[in-house]
Amino acid sequence: MIIAENLHRSYAIAKKNIEVLHGLSLHIKKGEKVFLCGPSGAGKTTLMYTLAGLEPPQEGSVIIDGTDIYALSMAKRALYRNKTMGFIFQNYMLMPELTAIENASLATAVAGREATERVTALLERVGLGDRLNHLPNELSGGEQQRVAIARALAHNPSIIFADEPTGNLDSRNGRQILDLLFELADEGGKTLVMVTHDHEIARLGDRVLTIRDGVVQ
Ligand SMILES: Nc1ncnc2c1ncn2[C@@H]1O[C@H](COP(=O)(O)OP(=O)(O)OP(=O)(O)O)[C@@H](O)[C@H]1O
Ligand SMILES: [Mg+2]
Repeated sequence: MIIAENLHRSYAIAKKNIEVLHGLSLHIKKGEKVFLCGPSGAGKTTLMYTLAGLEPPQEGSVIIDGTDIYALSMAKRALYRNKTMGFIFQNYMLMPELTAIENASLATAVAGREATERVTALLERVGLGDRLNHLPNELSGGEQQRVAIARALAHNPSIIFADEPTGNLDSRNGRQILDLLFELADEGGKTLVMVTHDHEIARLGDRVLTIRDGVVQ
């Protein structure tokens, strides 16, 4: 369960103060698949990073399963994030010099046979069993995003945050990636928080939260 209360976040640009989150509150239940929607610049990424403990709000709180994450020290918050959250980005963010299996292993805290087996199984699951030793530039965009999904799930987090995960893919590939993500989330009872500005895609989730004027409408 994610509870955000009265989030405020503003940026000072050229002496002008832009308030992006303006007393925003929301509740997301465990296992829910929620899309954050809204026009470009509405604050979707800012909100996602704030919920994930990456962007402290100037006011307000984020409570995840009873833990007030901004009451934790930065080091404790990073540990909490590494343990409970997985991240997927629009541009995959894979390390170019690492193979698929090495990239997918990045978030697992422990190396060794068990971790390798788990990551291999995940890569097989996302359809890349025969691409384990490929470098990102030897993979298609859809395949790179599958590696990123395996990486996000490798440490078995309870929450997956994804910022426009299908934004760089054609609609067929995007739909496949989304189906895969939903399937894996359902199996593990994971919460999915995804950003999109595609309303067609957003309808596929359990709930759409539209951000406008700094609040959820
Ligand atoms: N680090 C920053 N410094 C200054 N302004 C910022 C910063 N990050 C975001 N902003 C501003 O905050 C607003 C919201 O940005 P955000 O990236 O959250 O929007 P978004 O809804 O994710 O947009 P998009 O759909 O284009 O990705 C924008 O007006 C942006 O210019
Ligand atoms: Mg964004």
